Amino acid sequence: MTQPTFNPFDPAFRADPHPFYDSLREHDPVHMSLGGLVVLTRYHDVATVLRSNDYSRDVEKSAKPLDNPISTRMRERRRNSSKSILNLDPPDHTRLRRLVSKSFTPSAIESLRPMVQRYVDEALDDAEQRVRNGGTFELIDDLAFPVPFLVISAMLGMPIEREAELREWSQVITRTLEPTTGMAELDEADAAFAGLLPFLDEVIGERRKHPGADMLSALITAEESGDKLSADELVTFVVLLYIAGHETTVNLIGNSVLALLRAPDQLRHAREHGLDSNAVDELLRFDGPVQHTVRIPLVPVQFHVDDRVIEVAAGERVLTSLGAASHDPSVFENPHRLDLMRPNANKHLGFAAGIHYCLGSALAKLEAQVAIESLFRRFSTVEVVDEPSWRDRLTIRGVDRLVLEVAR
Ligand code: HEM
Repeated sequence: MTQPTFNPFDPAFRADPHPFYDSLREHDPVHMSLGGLVVLTRYHDVATVLRSNDYSRDVEKSAKPLDNPISTRMRERRRNSSKSILNLDPPDHTRLRRLVSKSFTPSAIESLRPMVQRYVDEALDDAEQRVRNGGTFELIDDLAFPVPFLVISAMLGMPIEREAELREWSQVITRTLEPTTGMAELDEADAAFAGLLPFLDEVIGERRKHPGADMLSALITAEESGDKLSADELVTFVVLLYIAGHETTVNLIGNSVLALLRAPDQLRHAREHGLDSNAVDELLRFDGPVQHTVRIPLVPVQFHVDDRVIEVAAGERVLTSLGAASHDPSVFENPHRLDLMRPNANKHLGFAAGIHYCLGSALAKLEAQVAIESLFRRFSTVEVVDEPSWRDRLTIRGVDRLVLEVAR
């Protein structure tokens, strides 16, 4: 047997990470990667680490500094801005999360259903019209991107006129979440921030003068009421919500439509019964948009592999593979099969677990459910025209382009 590897640069890994995940989980579940990461692929290990108080999400504060120019620059960039909720530990994490959690409760999100349905219907109307006029229907640009973008913009009360620029900035900024980030990506991200921040300052300034019922106005009130949220934290938070709000759900819609088209029996089931919450969880488990996240042990920790005990020192970088854990056969029977009726689909780790569990999970699930159901309800024929291409990303996994032939 060749030694299993975690090499995100390998094009085969990019195309389909599961053979690599399976091999690591079976033969080397606590894998020391060449890049110095401890890569975990077993469900139990990943879930335990994500829920444990012995780990930090604050790489800058808790991880041993890496001695290379890219890491040094990333540390400097992080120092110059306030940390996002995603990179904070309690008590700051708890304080920031409390400020927005009421906008994201399942009942608050359910009240957005008519708006989500309206945006989906409008996107499908436009796409259908284009097809009638001899054009094509490209799933990502025509449905999967506009819906989450319009919904988060409406929730925050953001103007949408500069959609193309905003989309570009957000793609460039999220590229720095990738383990493969280099100097060129950091230069591009700095340039994107230089465009995005004045835009946000303008919107925030305007909203201070004319507050509304939107989430941005609520955050500004929190900032103005003193020590709950600093001005810098406000901007960082808005950037995260805005980007998280449309960089990931687009991939859930894209990956899920492709998964259904590749599993005709499951598509038939979806057409007959719709997608309940469990079915959307299964789509997330099967091919989720976020493949991994990193945690830093605050104390020395141990993992057990057969009869060996593997020690990991405090300050190391532990990569929890959400994609591998959600396909662990010890938890999910026949894990590489899409099964919308899978009884334990909601145990997937596609939204992580513990205190950083995705704040937008209910919103993402609602958008995906409405978009996918409406697509298949409207068109009795939906077929893939070309082989799909995949985004050139590792942390975020998503179909980049999916041209569909559709007919009523
Ligand atoms: C299918 C779509 C989505 C997926 C797969 C996803 C996945 C995730 C994951 C895995 C995390 C945890 C990261 C970690 O622990 O390191 C996370 C956190 C987060 N997500 Fe999502 N997300 C999605 C959609 C959204 C949406 C629509 C929003 C908001 C509008 C959102 C907002 C957030 C926020 C604010 C956090 C940080 C929570 C915290 O640190 O306490 N996400 N998401």
